[in-house]
Amino acid sequence: MPEQRQPVRTARPRHYLMCRPTHFAVDYRINPWMDPAKPVDTALAVLQWERLYDLYQQLGHTVDLIEPVPGLPDMVYSANGATVHDGRVLVANFRYEQRAAEAPAYRAWFENAGHTEVKAAEHTNEGEGDYLVAGGRVLAGTGFRTDPAAHAEAQELFGVPVVTLTLVDPRFYHLDTALAVLDDDEIMYYPAAFSEDSRRTLRELFPDAILADEADAEVFGLNAVSDGLNVLLPQAATALAGKLAARGFRPVGVDLSELLKGGGSVKCCTLEIRHRATGGTR
Ligand code: ARG
Repeated sequence: MPEQRQPVRTARPRHYLMCRPTHFAVDYRINPWMDPAKPVDTALAVLQWERLYDLYQQLGHTVDLIEPVPGLPDMVYSANGATVHDGRVLVANFRYEQRAAEAPAYRAWFENAGHTEVKAAEHTNEGEGDYLVAGGRVLAGTGFRTDPAAHAEAQELFGVPVVTLTLVDPRFYHLDTALAVLDDDEIMYYPAAFSEDSRRTLRELFPDAILADEADAEVFGLNAVSDGLNVLLPQAATALAGKLAARGFRPVGVDLSELLKGGGSVKCCTLEIRHRATGGTR
């Protein structure tokens, strides 16, 4: 039995972009979780979202807001709007027509916020839904939304290795529904969401990863956000919370049941803005 390490975890202040679910609804179905026949309580969605927004600020993080656009009910899932690495912004290019107009809205937000390196993507990619920065590399999902050709585009722009991972279960259609980055070189994931080859890649790159079981994956437990210490995740993912605590993380359960009806949770609602490494963090 390998000795159980208990590393000291430290939180690093983060900068996030979120979008209030003012216009949230489930009017169409582009993933298996969405059922337009099932009622959605938009007011409750806003309340639940506000708790997450408050929590980030209580933890010392900076949260910017993008103005929600009427007619774009999925805009609350801000993770999909772009990927930001070392100050470079790669704007999303959505798979489905229903979300296409979100891309120019996110692009405009970054330009107005003073970002100078903002690139509209040539290939289909859904931002941090499928691109997760893990230390010196970017883990990149494909199979349902992001085009594998987009991975090369990201590698070219960010100048770091991009590791392609293939998703095979339609319930876990974005990488961030099946894998979360906990710290530079630590992740947790649900193995069955990936192709056999990708599972091998993950085992090789992250031999110590936390593995989630199906019950935790199904309640979107992997759709989590870590600041290095605090890991915000859906509160129903109780076994996963226990595994995180055993590794020295501080799991914080969050209830986003209304937003789950659109097929998203904590991470989907959170886009991390990673500033240039040189010249300060903000
Ligand atoms: N309804 C949205 C879609 O299917 C949910 C997006 C969830 N976002 C995420 N980062 N996984 O596109």
